Formats: sequence, C-alpha cells, structure tokens
Amino acid sequence: MQTNHFRNLCLVVLAATQVVCVSAQKTKTIAQKVDSVLQLMTLEEKIGQLNQYSGDWSHTGPITKDGDKQSQIKKGQLGSMLNIVGVEHTRTLQELAMQSRLKIPLLFGQDVIHGLKTTFPIPLAEAASWDLPAIERSARIAAKEAAASGIHWTFAPMVDIARDPRWGRVMEGAGEDPYLGSAIAKARVKGFQGNGLGSLDAVMACAKHFAAYGAAVGGRDYNSVDMSERLLHEVYLPPFKAALDAGVATFMNSFNDLNGVPATGNRYLQRTLLKERWKFKGFVVSDWGSVGEMIAHGYVQDNREAAKAAITAGSDMDMESRSYIQHLADLFKQKQVPIVLVDDAVRRILTKKFEMGLFDDPFRFSNAQREKIVWNDPAHKAAALDMARKSIVLLKNEQALLPIQASVKKVALIGPFMKAVRDNLGFWSYEWPDDSTTIVTQYDGIVRRLPKDAIVHYAKGCNINDADSAGFAAAIAAAKDADLVIMSMGEARDMSGEAKSRSSIQLPGLQEALIKAIHATGKPVVLLMNAGRPLIFNWAADHVPAIVCTWWLGTQAGDAIGDVLFGQYNPSGKLPMTFPRSEGQIPIYYNYYNTGRPAKDENNLFYVSAYIDLPNSPKFPFGYGLSYTHFQYAPMQLSDTVLKGNQTLTVKVRVRNEGKYDGEEVVQLYLRDVTASVVRPVKELKGFQKIFLKAGETKEVVFQVKTDDLRFYNQTVQHIWEPGEFHVMVGTSSAQVETRKINWQQ
Ligand code: BGC
Repeated sequence: MQTNHFRNLCLVVLAATQVVCVSAQKTKTIAQKVDSVLQLMTLEEKIGQLNQYSGDWSHTGPITKDGDKQSQIKKGQLGSMLNIVGVEHTRTLQELAMQSRLKIPLLFGQDVIHGLKTTFPIPLAEAASWDLPAIERSARIAAKEAAASGIHWTFAPMVDIARDPRWGRVMEGAGEDPYLGSAIAKARVKGFQGNGLGSLDAVMACAKHFAAYGAAVGGRDYNSVDMSERLLHEVYLPPFKAALDAGVATFMNSFNDLNGVPATGNRYLQRTLLKERWKFKGFVVSDWGSVGEMIAHGYVQDNREAAKAAITAGSDMDMESRSYIQHLADLFKQKQVPIVLVDDAVRRILTKKFEMGLFDDPFRFSNAQREKIVWNDPAHKAAALDMARKSIVLLKNEQALLPIQASVKKVALIGPFMKAVRDNLGFWSYEWPDDSTTIVTQYDGIVRRLPKDAIVHYAKGCNINDADSAGFAAAIAAAKDADLVIMSMGEARDMSGEAKSRSSIQLPGLQEALIKAIHATGKPVVLLMNAGRPLIFNWAADHVPAIVCTWWLGTQAGDAIGDVLFGQYNPSGKLPMTFPRSEGQIPIYYNYYNTGRPAKDENNLFYVSAYIDLPNSPKFPFGYGLSYTHFQYAPMQLSDTVLKGNQTLTVKVRVRNEGKYDGEEVVQLYLRDVTASVVRPVKELKGFQKIFLKAGETKEVVFQVKTDDLRFYNQTVQHIWEPGEFHVMVGTSSAQVETRKINWQQ
C-alpha cells in the first residue's frame, strides 16, 4: 500500500515546527515540493543528503570503517547508499531513514553494469553487436532486475571513449569511437530509465566518468589526462552529451585530473560545461573517494579544502570520502561555502527522489514478491542469449572451418575456459548461489549441440595465468584423437576491469605455448578468445585457421558460443575497438590524423610516420568482423557530387548476400574532411545500419548525410562545418571501404 510519505512528512513537521507546509497538495510541481522540503531542513540535514556510503554487501573500493552508518541514517546524515542489494536489505535501511526527523528516503545505488541476476555480455562485447535495440533491451532487463530488488540507481552507462586497450576499464565501455559510443550511450540510458523515472521497472542511469577518464596516460588506471579542449570535445565528450540528451538522471565525475585539475574539483567540467552550457538538471556524484583523493593529487591540502573544491566545482554528492559530512557545515559557517551551493546540490538530489516516487512510498521498489518473479523471468535468459550471440565477432575462418560440419564426429575441447563457470561473467558481475546451475559453460553449450554418437575429449591443458605445463600431454593426446579441436583461451574475469590495467595484453601464462603445441598436431583448430579487451595473439592469428572473439558473454555464454560454432547463429559482430599488433602501437585507433608524412606504402618507410619494425596497421581494425556468408557491396550511388548549403546527400548502396547462409551485416559510413582549418581524421564513422539478408537476398541501404555530419571543433572550439572536398566511404569495416569524392559548398 502506498504511504504517501511526502504528505506525512509535511504533516509531521507541521505539527512539530509550525512550518507551513502546503506542498502536500497534489497540484504542486516537484520543484515546489522540493522547495518546501528544503525549507524544513537544517544545515546538517542538507549536508546529509550530499553524503553517500557503501554498505558491506560487497564493495568496490577501500571501504571506510569508521562511523556508525545506521545511527547516521537515523539522524538524517545520509542521502544515499551503494552496494546494498536485495529487497530485504534495502528495506531494512530505508526503515531506518524513516526514523529520521524529516523521513527523507535514501537512494540506493549500485554498479549494475551488465546485468544483476542475469549477467549479459560485458558492455564492450555488447558494443560489438552494433545492435542498438538489443543493447537497449539488455539495459532494460538489468533495470527491471535492479528496480525489483530495491535499487533506484545504476552507476551506468560508462561512456568513456578508450583508445588504449591496456586500460582495464575498456571492458565497461563501448570502445574507441565517439559516434558509436554516443549511439550506445543513448540506447543504454533509454534502457535503464525505460518509461521514465518513477516507473517501477526503471532505475536512474549515471553517465560516467566525467570526463576523459579513458585517456589515462599509459593506459594505467586512475592516471592523469592532458589533452586539448578540442580533442576533449571531439572525441571524449560526445557520448556524455548523448546520454544527457537521452535524459540521463545523473553523472559521475572521474578519478583522473584533466589538464592539471582533478575532475572532481573541476569547475569547468561540472559547472561551466555540464550544468550551465548543457543545462543538466540532475546531480553529479563523485567517484568512490575522489573528493578526498584530491589531496593525493596534490590539488588540496586536506579534506576540508577537498570538500570546498568539490562542492564549488559542482560535485553534488560525496561518495565515501566523508569530506562533505565532516567539513561542509563549518565551511559554511566560516563563509567559505555559500548556502546557495549546498541548496543547489540538495535540490538536485531531492528532485530525483521525488521523480522516483520515493516521497510517495519509500519502499515502492522493495517488494519481495516482485523481486522473485522478475529475477526468475525466463525472458531475461532468452534476451541474454540473444545479446551474447550478437556480441560474438568472427575474426578468422579459413577454409570455412566454421560452422562445424556434421561430418565432425570426434572433438577435443581444450583450454582453461572450457569448463569455467564464473569466468564467463567478466568483471562487474555478481555471484549468486545458483551460479553453477544458471551459467551455461562453454563445454555444455558445445557438447549439447554435438550428435549423440559424437566422441568428446576434454582437457584443460593449462591454467589461465601460470607456468604449469603438466596438462599439456593430455591436451595433445586429446587433440591427436580428434577430427576438430576447439580451444577456449583468454583472460580471467578479473584481468580486465577497474584497476586491472596490463602493460602486456598478450595471452597470459602458457596459453600461447599450448596453442602452438596443439597446432603442431596438425589437427584443425578453432580458437575461442575470452577477454575484456582487445588482446594480442599474433602467432595464433597467423596460424590457427578459425578464431572467434567471444569476450565475456555472461550467463548464457555456452549456448551462445554453441549456436555460433554450429551455425544456428551466423556471427555478425564488428569490433568496437582496434586490435593492435603490438603494445608499441598503442594508443591505436582508426580515426587518426594523416600527419605531414603519411606512410602510404608499408614497403616504403623512407622518412615517413611509421615504425621501422612494424606496420602502422592493426591486427584487426575497428569495425571488422566476418560472417559465414559473404556480403557483396555494389558501387555506392550518390545523389550529388556537388552540394550546397543545407542540402542533403543521399548515399545508397546495394548489398547482396552471396553465400549460402542467412546473415546480418553492419554497413558502415565514414566521412573525411580533406582540408579544413584544423586537421581532420582520415575517416570518421558517421552512420551505420545493421541489416539482415537471407541467402541470395539483396537490400539497398540508404544514408542521409547533412551538414551537421560535417561539423567539427575548430581552433576556438566552435562546432562548425567548412565547405570543401569530402570523402564519402561505405564498407564492411573501417579498413575496407569504397571511397567517393564530393564537394560541399557554402
Ligand atoms: C568506480 C565507479 C563505481 C564506483 C562505485 C569506483 O571505484 O570507478 O565506476 O561506480 O566505484 O562502485
């Protein structure tokens, strides 16, 4: 039953303090209701709203031990908690909040990054699907499961662009491209927030980490970032803007400093840009402890200065630093922080609590029956399988080794991931007691698709990351007695993620040695690559005939992989990040500038921008991914080659499925501005369409290009377009396109 908590709040306080509380009337807008509550609040209660602690259910950072959280909740000294999962726990803590003077409900936040009960593929894998409705649905289901268990707010989507695969957090984002990243940011926000805040199956989304966290020097997590404002706007900010335009409720700032100012204390980012120029109405939460970390950055002397810097810069809620709760009141009394700053932050947070309906009923998301039903919804499993299949990228398939033919009767299944359970989930996933029954292993997914009379040999071969070769002999013996070997190799689930940067992104441990040993048996090998980032596996890429990038696919990994290997699903994923040949090429990305001495010919490296020991090209380019069928692109047709002003260029291309399998193709459109007042990338993604073609079918794909697509940030960081020559490119990957020239006049 709804308690109309806001009304009660007003009545209680009216009786106690004689404050005139007219806001209980239904006709009041949320802004008016917020103002009414604000009037009732003491300074301490206001500051309490800006304070967020972690619970002990699980934690993702160095948890602060001091302080009695429960009594602070009762005193109204806490606005939000994270890491409290489940109806029972959220309800218990919300009951404590109802014992506080004003009974302002707590917000429960959680890192629901790629699912809660049902684990979907890691976000980078989902990005490889280029399938926006599927990505939106994945976030929708995550939101349903979270909202059913008392969670109000997910710290997702992570929309950081990343050009450095050493950075462990690439697994959380959508890859290297601002256009794809923006489209996915929008899909995820829509998915999480569903029909709008207040719906019982929606959670508040959080665009993070604001900003440029993905550009950490050397790919080392938490490291500094130094970049031009132009690059910031062109590459790193667009997905944040897209999230904002999609209505994202909150932002999280980031651990890094940007051009010498920690993001948490960065006034330009949070106030000037986000709140003033972009008119963001939600609130900004700090990252875990990032307010206090400004001391270690060397930006402030102590926690008191940290609190002042953060609130002044526009960081509304302090996650786990305790800087606000300890120092803001005094800072106000000493006239160091004006009340308008505190009030603004409180207003933003209370607004969200109203929009979520928590003042009507603080327990509305904590419903044990709903939790049980939603968490066991079979449709979630089906959607996770669909998403996992779509996330897989076929990297190599010589002599059409895949899909596995019916003639294959003896199979050797080798590798440390074959029977792994939780390694399929990847970082930022949750462990549940029933994992062994709900997670489909790769072994099971493959074996259940083999004919009943097939002979299966299994050998782990080696561990993920050690020097133990004791299992090699058994694996070689298994391979020798098989028609086909499937090897499942890669990174453990905690080798990519937060604080999981790697200086080497090669296959860990003895895995490459095992691949070589198995390859030496002469048996055909299919290699499954499990990872949270682009890995380097050059020897395998050059010698193993079939390679499938499976990332970390979540609960349904085994069935998804089985469907792809046996042709029940024709792989359609395309890489959202470039796979380098060597760590020495990093940062590596497809949308680079040409330089004054471009290396046009890899055989002629005379005084050009190149390495003398390595080609510039990557091992696998952005946008790349094979299919079991072949898509033939007819020459593109342009509506015009000379355009004027606000005309629209129509680009048409007919794509034919020439193979014998039905399949999906991601048709990609890139543009290049040949000469401009600042140098422009050799190509930039400006459109894509994922189409399904039956075997033998042809479809026409149509793109409309407008002058908005030509815009870039000039030397004074204005978003303009300039007339001149442009290249229009259409193709199957960033490295395989047809190019046509056009002229766009003023
Ligand atoms: C991460 C955030 C996360 C937060 C709360 C931090 O360490 O950087 O992305 O949302 O912890 O778990």
